[in-house]
Amino acid sequence: MTGLAPELTFAHRHLLGIEGLSPDEITLLLDRAETYVAQNRLADKKKAVLVGRTIINLFFESSTRTRTSFELAGKRLGGDVINMSVSTSSIKKGETLIDTAMTLNAMHPDVLVVRHPDSGGVKLLSEKVNCAVINGGDGSHEHPTQALLDALTIRRRKGRLAGLRVAICGDVLHSRVARSNIYLLNTMGARIRLIAPRTLIPPAVERMGVEVFNDMKEGLKDCDIVMMLRLQSERMHTNYFPSIREYFHFFGLDYEKLASAKPDALIMHPGPMNRGVEIDSEVADDIGRSAIREQVEMGVAVRMACLEVLALNLPAWVEGAD
Ligand code: NCD
Repeated sequence: MTGLAPELTFAHRHLLGIEGLSPDEITLLLDRAETYVAQNRLADKKKAVLVGRTIINLFFESSTRTRTSFELAGKRLGGDVINMSVSTSSIKKGETLIDTAMTLNAMHPDVLVVRHPDSGGVKLLSEKVNCAVINGGDGSHEHPTQALLDALTIRRRKGRLAGLRVAICGDVLHSRVARSNIYLLNTMGARIRLIAPRTLIPPAVERMGVEVFNDMKEGLKDCDIVMMLRLQSERMHTNYFPSIREYFHFFGLDYEKLASAKPDALIMHPGPMNRGVEIDSEVADDIGRSAIREQVEMGVAVRMACLEVLALNLPAWVEGAD
């Protein structure tokens, strides 16, 4: 008894990215997540969906929101959750990604949630293990659960995704959040604009079905959603703009630039935010306009939905055991 309509199964072993998911599969995940939003607001937040299952959070990069919300999601569904961070594991002692994967695999986890600094690192790991793998962010490639939680936030506020004009602004070049959002929003029929300095726009990105702008006021004109991105300085090995001050002047979201968007435009940011760099503090905290805290709430519900649909596809026995 899955509680899912039979025609709406999620026919994937892993969730490695949004690329390749159908509109129905995305809708299934958002609809399941919606039920968990309500449950997470109750005193009793538990549902026995993952009882007996083991989830390991394996994070090779720092994280606050993603790791914590996967931990809460797993626990609220009754699973056992273990957190492994690189600083305390043998990876520091030189063990390779694959050796770590094989070691964890031998302990028979059911789901591995993996964040890795290399694009493609999570897929590589998924090919070596018997369990389901969820990508918690791989390099500048994909961050599927972030795009899903953003979509849920937008759908709840605007009632739909199709036809909305969404601006994704800032360091698109290094952003896995931007890439996953582009795939998702395109699949669901939204219109996407990227706004950034030329140096922070990936080459040939127009092929992904987006419009590119290098001026905030021009790009934000009539937008329904303004999604800001953090400057990912940890992935920058050269100078992409003259100074932080100049970056904020031209690309930081303040009320003056926001005035070009629709009067009811929603402000979003995946976090962590650099106040005064990509977003003005007052704009970020504007309760009437900013959905930033709601995004964090939606993150738990979306991760519960992802864990649930993948767990339903797991065999009832331990694969690969001697
Ligand atoms: C994002 C990430 O790690 O890709 N953060 C997150 O998961 N909420 C964005 C970022 O680090 O800027």
